[in-house]
Amino acid sequence: MTTIAKPDVRGFYDEPSGSIGYVVSDPDTGRAVIIDPMLDYDEKAARISTATADLMLAYVTDRNFKVDWIFDTHPHADHLSAAAYLKEKIGAPTAIGEKIVEVQKIWRDIYNELDFPCDGAQWDKLFADGATFSIGNLPTRVMLTAGHTKASITYVIGDAAFVNDTLFQPDTGSARCDFPGGNAETQYDSIMSILALPPETRLFTGHDYRQGGRPAQWQSTVAEQRAASIHFKNRPSRDDYVRLRLARDKTLPLPRLILHALQFNLRGGRLPPPESNGRSYLRIPVNYF
Ligand SMILES: [Fe+2]
Repeated sequence: MTTIAKPDVRGFYDEPSGSIGYVVSDPDTGRAVIIDPMLDYDEKAARISTATADLMLAYVTDRNFKVDWIFDTHPHADHLSAAAYLKEKIGAPTAIGEKIVEVQKIWRDIYNELDFPCDGAQWDKLFADGATFSIGNLPTRVMLTAGHTKASITYVIGDAAFVNDTLFQPDTGSARCDFPGGNAETQYDSIMSILALPPETRLFTGHDYRQGGRPAQWQSTVAEQRAASIHFKNRPSRDDYVRLRLARDKTLPLPRLILHALQFNLRGGRLPPPESNGRSYLRIPVNYF
């Protein structure tokens, strides 16, 4: 019988956005990856700071981990990615799913940035659906799990799947699909593929909104989701799910930072190029939403 490799997983919770970034490490070799690291952003001052990313950095340096990769699961709409910041600090390559180029095209048009390069070159590696590789001794597989965005991918590392904004904790259900390029049908298929993983698979989500005021949580299993997810325990059909998802999405306000975040995150976690005075500016399309 083969035993499934079990990475050590440490989550870093960002209270303002309810996001979770992860350091995933191989206990045998000390090789590690960072998933969905975030920067801090003071909206009133338009000031970026790095306290949360620096906690992740200290965690890996204190343990002498060798970081092989910095992964984004998708372009986030509610916080700024620290991928480029951490790459500068530790030199590890960055990666995201190859469908990112489609999301770049959608937002290039929304921002009217016609010379924005939509080729994914802002990352070192673009993963195709089904890509496999190892992190130390941990077998790793990429699953395209689109729906929340066209580019969302899940990294399955040993017995742990980093499902980002597909499934949240069972008491919270699934992620919204109403941002440009989102699709509830695709989301249903993606979640079905996650729920088809072995029942003991640990699932690590991308957000937690502390349902009912409970402490933040970010870990479940496939078995727990199948038994208790408020959106999936009753085995909805695709049509049932889509109806429920679309109705729910109509009630949700946009994330506070969506227009700030996408133009930064679609550059791999970088500001737009500086203007003639040496300063970078964010663009806000008025009355788009
Ligand atoms: Fe998201």
